[in-house]
Amino acid sequence: MADTCHLFLLGLAILSSLLAGTSGVDDAHVFISSGENVSLPCNNALHDCTSTTWNYNRFSHSAAVELINLGIKMNDTERHERLSLGSDCSLNINNISTEDYGSYICQQWTGENGPKQRPDAHVYLHVLHVSQTEISAGLSVTLSCQLYSYAGVSCDDWIQSERIELFWVNQAGVKLTRSDSRYQISSSSGHCIITQNITLLNEDHNREWRCEVSHRDQVKTSVTYTVKSSVIVIIVEFAVFAAPTVILLQIICARRAGRKDSQHPEEIEINTILE
Ligand SMILES: *[C@@H]1O[C@H](CO)[C@@H](O)[C@H](O)[C@H]1NC(C)=O
Ligand SMILES: *[C@@H]1O[C@H](CO)[C@@H](O)[C@H](O)[C@H]1NC(C)=O
Ligand SMILES: *[C@@H]1O[C@H](CO)[C@@H](O)[C@H](O)[C@H]1NC(C)=O
Ligand SMILES: *[C@@H]1O[C@H](CO)[C@@H](O)[C@H](O)[C@H]1NC(C)=O
Repeated sequence: MADTCHLFLLGLAILSSLLAGTSGVDDAHVFISSGENVSLPCNNALHDCTSTTWNYNRFSHSAAVELINLGIKMNDTERHERLSLGSDCSLNINNISTEDYGSYICQQWTGENGPKQRPDAHVYLHVLHVSQTEISAGLSVTLSCQLYSYAGVSCDDWIQSERIELFWVNQAGVKLTRSDSRYQISSSSGHCIITQNITLLNEDHNREWRCEVSHRDQVKTSVTYTVKSSVIVIIVEFAVFAAPTVILLQIICARRAGRKDSQHPEEIEINTILE
């Protein structure tokens, strides 16, 4: 029984946003990693934000939700605690989650029923999120990188015409491609969520893996992960059933998600079936 089992310490080493906050703005597209704070600009803002209204839509067919009405934050939205109005009438959202993606519209009204004073400012918020989705029996780790975007009429066409791309980059800064079968890169897009998975093997540990999102060939934001391993084995139970042999391995998995998550280790139990 020379089983080796590995202790995975998946550290979110740097949850970096190359262009965090307002500097992430390009035209009306803002790209941000989950857990960060963002500020959405109301480019047409007047001096006085009492005429400012912010509306939100996640899908083209969903009803708009009013977040700010004439400078006053609405209570009834789930996330109202994370929202605030900036002095320049921008909409600040703290601790971005994957629920926050969508289309935000800033309007300037002259009063309750008055005409609009300026054209609407339209901002699309795209949220980048990396999760460790799998520790398989083969002790590989799959990192799943996802970009959540506004689901308009045709997501694929929109993503393509805006030239929004998602990719994994290794420690040397080299973009990983599907032709390198070792990394088992897979991708999909549905509901306007683009996914790029990468499966790492033992020799890939202790290295940095970065998921980047680019818009019109410019990197907008990225998330960096380091997978650490050691050869500590904890075999909790060895049970023999009829056949095949079932070995219960307990793998202690500590996942440190940088600033935002708790640092309590998670315990993950894996049932490995050996013939
Ligand atoms: C986000 O803003 C909150 C409140 O201002 C602050 O405590 C926190 O450190 C900020 N987080 C990031 C990632 O900048
Ligand atoms: C928010 O809630 C408080 C008390 O729950 C209430 O007094 C206030 O009028 C509400 N504000 C809005 C904008 O609905
Ligand atoms: C940020 O949101 C996540 C859930 O999306 C939550 O687990 C975490 O505690 C929040 N962090 C802060 C600083 O509020
Ligand atoms: C990414 O990985 C997750 C978990 O392993 C899986 O559910 C999903 O289908 C994968 N996506 C792609 C595009 O391979």
